[in-house]
Amino acid sequence: MEHLSEILKILDGALKANASMASNYAGLLADKLDSAGDAKHARMIRERLARAPSALLGAQDASRGISFGALPVDGESRLDTVDLSNPTVDSSSLLLPSAVDERIAEFLANIRYYDKLSKAGAALPNRLMAYGPPGTGKTKLARHIAAKLDIPLLTVRCDTLISSLLGQTSRNLRRVFEYAQQMPSVLFLDEFDALAGARGNERDVGELQRVVIALLQNIDALPESTILIAATNHDQLLDPAIWRRFSFRIPMPVPDTTLRMSLWHQFLGSFAPSSLDFPGLVDASDGVTGALIEQVCIDAKRVAVLEGENLVDEAQLFRRLGLALSLLQGVVLSTTQNEIHWLKAWAPKRFSLRALAKLYNMSNRSVTNILKEKKFSGQEKGQQSLITR
Ligand SMILES: Nc1ncnc2c1ncn2[C@@H]1O[C@H](COP(=O)(O)OP(=O)(O)OP(=O)(O)O)[C@@H](O)[C@H]1O
Ligand SMILES: [Mg+2]
Repeated sequence: MEHLSEILKILDGALKANASMASNYAGLLADKLDSAGDAKHARMIRERLARAPSALLGAQDASRGISFGALPVDGESRLDTVDLSNPTVDSSSLLLPSAVDERIAEFLANIRYYDKLSKAGAALPNRLMAYGPPGTGKTKLARHIAAKLDIPLLTVRCDTLISSLLGQTSRNLRRVFEYAQQMPSVLFLDEFDALAGARGNERDVGELQRVVIALLQNIDALPESTILIAATNHDQLLDPAIWRRFSFRIPMPVPDTTLRMSLWHQFLGSFAPSSLDFPGLVDASDGVTGALIEQVCIDAKRVAVLEGENLVDEAQLFRRLGLALSLLQGVVLSTTQNEIHWLKAWAPKRFSLRALAKLYNMSNRSVTNILKEKKFSGQEKGQQSLITR
């Protein structure tokens, strides 16, 4: 039967006396009928919806006709536990290895053709777990998926669900899951390990174990067609029982050479001079994430704009990258002298005396003096010698 998942959701809404859930899914059904060429039936549904008492439906999102009840709040702090947004496909695309891209395309196809696949017994639950180091694009992936599907994104920072009150965390969870079922949406559990890593962690006793159990129950009670995405930096902390419930597991890797090349190009855009040493940037940024490359590009572009230029300066760009790498290693470069030492040790050929003098607006002699001044140079003792953590 066509459109069974929408009909079941409308039925659920009616049985739970949840008018906004029923009407949201009826609206979605009308859209689907419209795009399948069945305008007559779509109109009949919309006419019915227009007759529904508006008080029952809560606030209306004018652009989409989707109604949202009040956002769930933490029972203790009364702060919202869900952030509702409508992401659009933005100009900077998500750049991922082709195998990962393919898995994401499969996930999107599983959602789009869920009914058809389900009829053939070939559908997987619409659940995706993105895991990888910080700054590799996990949050961006959730936004990207919601934008592609053109439905709202409900972001839950899992750490905000954790309450000090006994039983409150489980109640918070239940409210969030119930809220997400009211409308076609992507439920995105960010920082997922805050919840799902609890079982087996000696520090956390009964209450957190109950949270994991509550999480499992909520996931199991969710219709398989509901779209659920979770993101974590700590996949090794996740309970295997939770892990099993996500049919799509997407590793978000630190970008390789090819991806770094694309990231530098994407984030510099028209600010890249034609002679820019892209291979040099790619080499020097081995092991860093897309987030760091983006940050370095923004910094370099800001300097350019403030100086009235429309191209970034190559030396400035490498300097920014070098400084970002120093921070990553926990090195605090609090003075120009330290910066100069660091850069010279990091990339001696690129940061020649002349280049450093130009970059810092000093004479060659001053740079020479600075490099001599310190008892330890970065090269002699290794860069760790500059650590002032
Ligand atoms: N592969 C990538 N493609 C495009 N942009 C990327 C990529 N990786 C990171 N970025 C950029 O880095 C920024 C941070 O990414 P995001 O917040 O999605 O990372 P995250 O994996 O969720 O990090 P965290 O674990 O710290 O929450 C984004 O603004 C995005 O533009
Ligand atoms: Mg994130």
